Amino acid sequence: MKLINPYLLAITTMFVMSCTSKKEVSSLKDSYKNDFYIGTALSADQIEEKDAKVDSLIRKEFNAITSENIMKSMFIHPQKDKYDFTLSDKYVAYGEKNKMLIHGHTLIWHSQLAPWMEQIKDSTEMKAFMKDHITTIVSKYKGRINSWDVVNEALNDDGTLRKSVFSNTLGENFLVDAFKLAAAADPKVDLYYNDYNLEDPAKREGAINLVKKIKAAGGKVDGIGSQAHWKLNSPSLEEIEKTILDFSALGVKVAFTELDITVLPNPWDLKGADVNQKFEGNPKMNPYPEKLPDSIQDKLAQRYADIFKLLLKHKDKISRVTFWGVYDGQSWLNDWPIKGRTNYPLLFDAKLAHKKAYDAVLNLKESKE
Ligand code: G3I
Repeated sequence: MKLINPYLLAITTMFVMSCTSKKEVSSLKDSYKNDFYIGTALSADQIEEKDAKVDSLIRKEFNAITSENIMKSMFIHPQKDKYDFTLSDKYVAYGEKNKMLIHGHTLIWHSQLAPWMEQIKDSTEMKAFMKDHITTIVSKYKGRINSWDVVNEALNDDGTLRKSVFSNTLGENFLVDAFKLAAAADPKVDLYYNDYNLEDPAKREGAINLVKKIKAAGGKVDGIGSQAHWKLNSPSLEEIEKTILDFSALGVKVAFTELDITVLPNPWDLKGADVNQKFEGNPKMNPYPEKLPDSIQDKLAQRYADIFKLLLKHKDKISRVTFWGVYDGQSWLNDWPIKGRTNYPLLFDAKLAHKKAYDAVLNLKESKE
């Protein structure tokens, strides 16, 4: 009988073990632990840990969480004299249990308001609402929630102030009031202004002016959140970089708060072609109902790699990068801007398997360490 060389066996075993353990410990949050938080948005079901597989994926990969919907006004403050903290209590407890950075989304937003809030008519009523709403919610989680989106999406795409029940009653001052109220309720919590399309120069300029005005009026702004609902080809890396530099020059933290990358055709890009075309149920608008072709999978991986390479270059300015959802199957982009499509915007597919894009993001770190 041929004897096995014990030295060779030991070396082989060690090699196999080191490969296996490296694979096992690899995760987004561990790989990026010295750079910035890696977060995900949680649905109500995920907060309630309804699916054990999804839950272990969340705990393995992410060290920051955002409430995707449950803290929005219509859910947390459904009637003037009634708050419902059932799910937000569970959300905060989940983050504490798993030692995650807990982000609150969002205090003041024109969308997903409770119907009674839409009826607020004048500045006196609005001031009273904001004081009660912000003070009640922020104080309740004082010292437990790490950061808040104080105001979400106050700007139009051209950088001007969006018309809303808030701006209609208080003008631009609603932002100053909101940031002051939040700071008064929890002086230590980080306060963010959050918006999308901030890589467009006009809107970015609008956000910069807004933050300057809030600060000049005595409000505390700790960070700006760029939502980062991006496409395969836009915004350009140059505009993303300018955004990071311009915002950090204001002396605030920069966060990418709702990152996802759509791979599907956008109806607005096609509208010029035929204004009468029907988008919902149109197979041309839903080109990959079963599987993402390898060529697009590669493009998505390259896009994520390019983005994370840039974010790493500016890691000293970036506090957090949060994906808008855990896996493709749950993404809001399956139903927007056209209902019932199959999109592939995240790092995990509908079966929770990691995609090439995940490896691309991880490889940026592992090749260096
Ligand atoms: O609450 C109802 C539920 O009662 C009903 O059974 C169900 C049936 O579809 O709908 C539920 O409401 C949905 C709600 O999410 C809560 O789950 C709405 O239909 C759905 O449109 C809504 O979408 C959310 C959207 O905000 C609303 O504007 C998305 O899940 C959420 O991902 C999205 O998140 C926003 C950020 O907050 C701000 N930035 C943009 C981002 C993407 O739109």
